[in-house]
Amino acid sequence: MKQNKITIAIDGLSSTGKSTIAKQLARKLGYIYVDTGAMYRAITYFALQKGYIKDPHIDEKDLIQDLEKIDIQFVFNKDLGFGEVHLNGHNVEQHIRSMEVSAMVSPISAIGEVRKKLVALQQKMGKDKGVVMDGRDIGTVVFPNAELKLFLTASAKARATRRYKELLDKGESVSYEAVLENVQKRDHLDSTRSISPLKQAKDAVPIDNSDMGLEEQFERILSLVKRKLKA
Ligand code: DC
Repeated sequence: MKQNKITIAIDGLSSTGKSTIAKQLARKLGYIYVDTGAMYRAITYFALQKGYIKDPHIDEKDLIQDLEKIDIQFVFNKDLGFGEVHLNGHNVEQHIRSMEVSAMVSPISAIGEVRKKLVALQQKMGKDKGVVMDGRDIGTVVFPNAELKLFLTASAKARATRRYKELLDKGESVSYEAVLENVQKRDHLDSTRSISPLKQAKDAVPIDNSDMGLEEQFERILSLVKRKLKA
């Protein structure tokens, strides 16, 4: 598909398959894919490694002081077809999806300085358009002028079941109840925080995929993209 490049912003609740559809679209359109959740997760992993998190306490001051030392980049993996997140030169993909990181990423992402650093980086990554970016505030804060905004939702049970399977496949031993609790807790924290809370942009297209197959969802969203590219 060779057309004008647009910006596609995908926001929504946790575990709604934002990254799956974002990767499908990026591959189809030849766009860059940016997983902004991975960036917040990488900073959370950094804070855990440094001992700045003693659940529930976070040494915000120390973390904020260290922010300038944190380098986050996506390095394209040819075999996977998308970029993997690197923290200070190291691939941290295997570490950032653990339950330990998931449990602390919401409070870390509520810190204003953390958001300021990552939003600026995300805007830089998407400045030339031709980008599919997923997160919580992409259509509202990072790219309020994105040509296409999607807002994904699904029932908490459907989302916890998906995430639970993913974690089991990775060999993590975890209970379904713990995953459901984490999903619900993060929804609450992400939607009620004072800075850039998760909310649907006025001009976003809502998609509830509780009972929608991946193929059906892809076709539906691709037709929205095609309409925008023609506009
Ligand atoms: O998409 P994810 O579940 O990997 O995101 C992890 C957390 O990061 C999520 O609970 C909230 C936070 N996040 C955010 O605050 N803003 C974004 N743009 C992306 C993620």
